[in-house]
Amino acid sequence: MQILPLIRARFEQALDGWVAEPAEHARRIAVARDPRHGDYQANIAMPLSKSLCKKPMEIAGELVDRLSIDDLCHPPEIAAPGFINLRLRDEFLAAQLSAALADQRLAVGQVTARTYVIDYSSPNVAKPMHVGHIRSTVIGDALARILRFLGHQVISDNHLGDWGTQFGMIIYGYKHFLDQAKYEKNPVAELSRLYRVVQQVIGYQAAEPELAGATERLASATEKQKRADAAPADAPKRNKEVKAAAKEVRAATEALSSLNGKVNSVKNDPQLLTIAQEHPELEQRAQAETVKLHQGDAENLDLWKQFLPLSIAEIDSVYKRLDVRFDTTYGESFYHPMLGALVDKLSSSGMAVESDGATCVFLDDFEAPMIIRKRDGAFLYATTDLATIEYRMEHFRPDAILYVVDHRQGEHFSKIFAAARAIGYDQVELQHVSFGTVLGPDGRPFKTRSGTVVGLDTLLDEAVERAYQVVCDPERLQKAGLEMTDEEKRQVASTVGLGAIKYADLSHNRSSDYKFDIDAMVQLEGNTSAYIQYMVARTKSIIRKSGMQLTEKTIDRFPLQITQPAERKLALQLLQFEDALHQSIEEYYPSVLAGYLYDVAKQFATFFEQCHVLNASSEDLKISRLAICYATARVLRQGLSLLGIDVVERM
Ligand code: ARG
Repeated sequence: MQILPLIRARFEQALDGWVAEPAEHARRIAVARDPRHGDYQANIAMPLSKSLCKKPMEIAGELVDRLSIDDLCHPPEIAAPGFINLRLRDEFLAAQLSAALADQRLAVGQVTARTYVIDYSSPNVAKPMHVGHIRSTVIGDALARILRFLGHQVISDNHLGDWGTQFGMIIYGYKHFLDQAKYEKNPVAELSRLYRVVQQVIGYQAAEPELAGATERLASATEKQKRADAAPADAPKRNKEVKAAAKEVRAATEALSSLNGKVNSVKNDPQLLTIAQEHPELEQRAQAETVKLHQGDAENLDLWKQFLPLSIAEIDSVYKRLDVRFDTTYGESFYHPMLGALVDKLSSSGMAVESDGATCVFLDDFEAPMIIRKRDGAFLYATTDLATIEYRMEHFRPDAILYVVDHRQGEHFSKIFAAARAIGYDQVELQHVSFGTVLGPDGRPFKTRSGTVVGLDTLLDEAVERAYQVVCDPERLQKAGLEMTDEEKRQVASTVGLGAIKYADLSHNRSSDYKFDIDAMVQLEGNTSAYIQYMVARTKSIIRKSGMQLTEKTIDRFPLQITQPAERKLALQLLQFEDALHQSIEEYYPSVLAGYLYDVAKQFATFFEQCHVLNASSEDLKISRLAICYATARVLRQGLSLLGIDVVERM
């Protein structure tokens, strides 16, 4: 149930036959920011003043006279210079909430369905998955769940990076540095070791020749800083120069230390150093293996077919823990056979042209063209993405394709979208649902102490462990009078811990970076999933204690009444669930839904503080308040589940 469209419809009726475009004007009604102005406020009269040649106050008066809204609201109030303030009737709120409770979908309507393809998670396989992959996975999953719940058709596609240069690296490693015994024991671990070895050596070989230059740059920056510092205190621009010099020194220091890190990690490891010496130009060698793979070399293709299922099985176990499923998992390799034909088609239609031996698509609004086939015949990331759009358009006929991908790929997607439109896919909505970086406590991209990106699995374990410490703390459980078996404790910790990781991500506006802080995210206070889950558990505990059965079927035995401001506010918020869902997909921000759920949980706490439930002053009131607890549980549970987060009976 959406209240706002209902109110707007009444205003539309009142405006009909009086002003042009009544619906446009009716849109100027919004939730009131200040509760003193009621629940909703219409800012319609002021903008009409000119065309109607009347004072806004007069127009507002006339509009209110024409309005028939008594069944929903108290008589509207007019406030200078011409606002119309609306306050919903308590009986209306109570009746709507009862109706929502009798409905399985909480009276959330089904929309006219659009078809969405959502491209998310999409990790480059055969490299360890890390915390950055969480964002795409949980944001994409939440959007898929919300869209589906509203009635849309969703195809979730995990566009695996299963054809990239990492395979050349692993194949090279496999051919030269394999530890057969380790491979037999734990193939995935051995493959990721091989990947790291090759990556480290490539890093070393690239960094080593840069070292002298970087050392020199630091020395000269330091010199410059000394000179700037030595300038007389009153010299013009002294402050500015001192600052600039310090900045340069910092940058040079950082650059040098990054190079040193790469060089030393190999230098201090005799085995790696030998490899680096015996395999010069390792990057080119690994690249050559990738090229062979792409050209269909039998040996490399066999190895790829051997490696791929291993790493897919590994990431599948993470998806299973996160309860994330995909409709399709067409990796990049799936499109490879289509690329040649696509490039030829674009060339023969004149969309793509030869430039310097490469095949390019020139795009309006972009300086550099988009290369789709390199001089050496190799295809690019962009070529695959164009083929992917073509395939999706042909097979799924979507109205929208959403790409839940890191903001650093913004330029790539702008170009792909422009090219797709130029080719003729100009009806489909193409959206880069971009997101910021996950930061560590130091404000830099999140890494562990060892300097490698954290494995996802370990991270999930850690969150569950911390959740256990917080929620299953023996003292806390004793105080709360909760006796739990070990199994229940583990179950609760797992639900809270995994929820915490997802919620921390989803509750932050996806466009910004956020700090990953496991300790903060499992707390029972503040904007955390644990807090919301705890409120759900409280509602359940009250209902259990009442000994009554509240279900969709029995709810008509629990008539609602609104007697207190805290009850009223909570009821109104609960009725805004559908609005929150629509707002969260308007521009694809699950954080809107997360924020809404947090507000409901907080308002429930206030209600619970101010209104007795089991000790209410009358049986009728008790029954009504139990229904409000039940409504809160339903909305929070449904909302969390749309974020991919579970709840528990007791905590
Ligand atoms: N595999 C890519 C990466 O990890 C993300 C792919 C996103 N999807 C796409 N259609 N390009 O950076």
